[in-house]
Amino acid sequence: MATRWGLCGAGKISHDFSVAVKTLPPEDHQIAAIASRSTERAKYFAKKHDIPKTYGSYEDLARDSDIDIVYLGVLHTEHWHVGLLFLKAGKNVLCEKPFAMNSRQVKDLVEEAKKNNVFLMEAIWSRCFPVHAEVRRQLAEEAVGEVKLVKAYFGSPQLHVPRSVEKELGGGALLDIGVYCLQFVLMVFNGERPASIQATGVLLDSGVDESVVVVMKFTRKRMALCVFSIAARLPNDAVISGTKGSISVLGPMHCPTKLVVNGKETEHPLPEPCLPLNFTNSTGLCYEAEEVRRCLLKGLKESPRMPLSESVLLTEIMDEIRKQVGVVFSQDRQ
Ligand SMILES: NC(=O)c1ccc[n+]([C@@H]2O[C@H](COP(=O)([O-])OP(=O)(O)OC[C@H]3O[C@@H](n4cnc5c(N)ncnc54)[C@H](OP(=O)(O)O)[C@@H]3O)[C@@H](O)[C@H]2O)c1
Repeated sequence: MATRWGLCGAGKISHDFSVAVKTLPPEDHQIAAIASRSTERAKYFAKKHDIPKTYGSYEDLARDSDIDIVYLGVLHTEHWHVGLLFLKAGKNVLCEKPFAMNSRQVKDLVEEAKKNNVFLMEAIWSRCFPVHAEVRRQLAEEAVGEVKLVKAYFGSPQLHVPRSVEKELGGGALLDIGVYCLQFVLMVFNGERPASIQATGVLLDSGVDESVVVVMKFTRKRMALCVFSIAARLPNDAVISGTKGSISVLGPMHCPTKLVVNGKETEHPLPEPCLPLNFTNSTGLCYEAEEVRRCLLKGLKESPRMPLSESVLLTEIMDEIRKQVGVVFSQDRQ
């Protein structure tokens, strides 16, 4: 039986997700429905992507008993209450990153998923890429000896994008792209809580972070450096340096195709899209769709690739970085 996906939100990432799912065998994955706040937008999307069912409200999708999992592709600010809607309706949910606006909201989502015994995953798609699988394999084999320093850069000028810069839309570099650098560090250090976090950054006039530098210390004299910006173009690579060598995930590190381990480069090409994409390498979203199907078939309630405990830790780290940099959202006061 194919996994039947219901898409929530007819925006840019839902488009790319739908294109990515089309690269997978139809006997394994079907996009069964699309829901938007606007019936017209849902119908337009459904026509473009050949989706059988359309809904003009998220509540209608929540009532559809023929859906195996909801892909939540709405703005960050909406993840909490829309996520709760589906979880309360007993739906499995794959929620776009960042999971929510702060760790309190993330804990609510996790608690609700557990209460309803449904699957929940933060869509950190990077974790499901073949390059990341290879990084984990190399680390397990101690290819670089003992890891001492992890560096991750992500800079992408997007000051023209409203959801990147406006506070009411959950703007700022941290929640949008910094999350990828931080999750990379956590992946390398097996979800360990940093012993210390030092962050500094510059803000836009809207009060959200434009560029941030974060230094974290971990036990056993290990460190991490993350730099992210929505104003500057950066190399967007990630480097793991150890006592015996190094692993470089070449840019774009959040959806990579190239890896260099101790000087030896390998390439992991992506499937070709059937329609133009909004974001870089987005057909790689197919790997997280496959991961979700694997989990659902096994009856898992979370993904071992991105466990819920790590999503909570990731958001707690982001809360601390925002505190140090001085970014406060209205959701923090609720
Ligand atoms: N994995 C990745 O590589 C990746 C890439 C880009 C974005 N994302 C994540 O995906 C999410 C959506 O990003 P996007 O670029 O796709 O955004 P988008 O196209 O601007 O908006 C996505 C959807 O959010 C809803 N929405 C838009 N503005 C809203 C508002 N003012 N109030 C309430 N809902 C609103 C709309 O749903 P309706 O259609 O129902 O109106 C819209 O279709 C974000 O959380 C982002 O971090 C992930």
